[in-house]
Amino acid sequence: MSGDPQRAFETAADLAAEAVEVLRRNDLGGWTTAAPRLYPHQWSWDSAFIAIGLARVDTRRAMRELTTLFAAQWATGMVPHIVFNPYVPPGSYFPDADRWACTDLAAAAPSAPRTSGICQPPVHAIAARHIWSIAQRDGADAEGDARAVLADLYPRLLAWHRYLATARDPAGSGLVTIYHPWESGTDNAPRWDAAMASVAVGSLPPYTRVDLQHVADPGQRPTNDEYDRYLWLVEELKRARYDDAAIARTHPFLVQDVLFSAILVAANDALLAIAETVAAPDAEQQTIVSWRERGRAGLAARWDAELGLCLDFDLRAGAPVRTHTVAGFAPLVAGGLATDRLDALLTAFDSPAFAGHPALRWPLPPSTSPNDPGFRARSYWRGPTWPFLTWLFWWALARAGAHDRAERLRRAALDQIAAVGFAEYVEPFTGEPLGSADQSWTAAVALDWLAADDGGVA
Ligand code: DGY
Repeated sequence: MSGDPQRAFETAADLAAEAVEVLRRNDLGGWTTAAPRLYPHQWSWDSAFIAIGLARVDTRRAMRELTTLFAAQWATGMVPHIVFNPYVPPGSYFPDADRWACTDLAAAAPSAPRTSGICQPPVHAIAARHIWSIAQRDGADAEGDARAVLADLYPRLLAWHRYLATARDPAGSGLVTIYHPWESGTDNAPRWDAAMASVAVGSLPPYTRVDLQHVADPGQRPTNDEYDRYLWLVEELKRARYDDAAIARTHPFLVQDVLFSAILVAANDALLAIAETVAAPDAEQQTIVSWRERGRAGLAARWDAELGLCLDFDLRAGAPVRTHTVAGFAPLVAGGLATDRLDALLTAFDSPAFAGHPALRWPLPPSTSPNDPGFRARSYWRGPTWPFLTWLFWWALARAGAHDRAERLRRAALDQIAAVGFAEYVEPFTGEPLGSADQSWTAAVALDWLAADDGGVA
């Protein structure tokens, strides 16, 4: 990584040192802000990716990231998508804890810390196993400490996965139902457009968007119309008092999310390894295996042979969601694929519709295919590349045995970060950094990729 004057970092050592600095600056003592200004609280899946990177620096601190998050777990087992930092000035982020009103409305919500009332993809067991595997190489003390934390975390992880396998999948389809695009983490991806267009927005309490104050151009963020709909779904969830059974009956947005579901499958694989490590009862291990297999079957049922992608399913419309986004590669993340399905996915991944598009600045999958009518190169999840998501696909490719492809992806991803720094997301054609700078999970995955040069995939 040297010789190009466009680069923000000249050497891998510079890049690693600055990634550590970003995480240090964003560390608020036991947990890490997703980003300093735009996201001043603890976000659930951000924290899991942050822990993956922190493991390369300090396995104890990495485990702490997870245990801090799980201290806010709901009685249902749900891990909330935001744990609010009580010390940020009022008006720093919207919607805030008052707007969610979980402590007042939901019997299952903790009274402190205050949280949002929805969740995000369950990367946590994957992170915990990753930390554990690094701690094992770090000597007996680190290993002993990590084992003790794992023993404490395991029942919490099990309760989290049980919640997703039951309350979020009452029909036993193997797919997780989400209540809000924010739960997918891919907020304004075209995959939600049709379902969101069907949501009738009622009388919305007034609000001011804070997110737009932290980006150079509002076109990088969801539109005001999208925000109205996001906020309306929050009002609907409040009306149901965040009760899963009531939500299943009344909520206007219920979509089976294939990427979320695939992450749960991979997380169940990781949870099984953790269960073995902590000598969990056989019956629990068998339950985890059954969730994993049901998840794989659920994803297989959502395969669209014509598109060569896996599709979300809109339960309200009773129809699959035919969009071209990276979520279509969900089965890659879930793993355990037959050769022909794996080949079909790899062909689509490398095709001009995704990472093989000839105009891309780096051969990395854009969040939405440039061929999709909903594609917008600068708008959040409608096209930009997201480094943490590239990490997830890199990890999945390595697990699938596609090592050369994985290595090409890792090198291109590090080139991208070396050029643009720790941006939240990146315009795929020009390479312009977008969204927040100093995004914690971007720094975290950079650290893991750099360490993988000598240590391999943990
Ligand atoms: C945001 O604030 O944009 C988040 O994605 C919601 O969690």
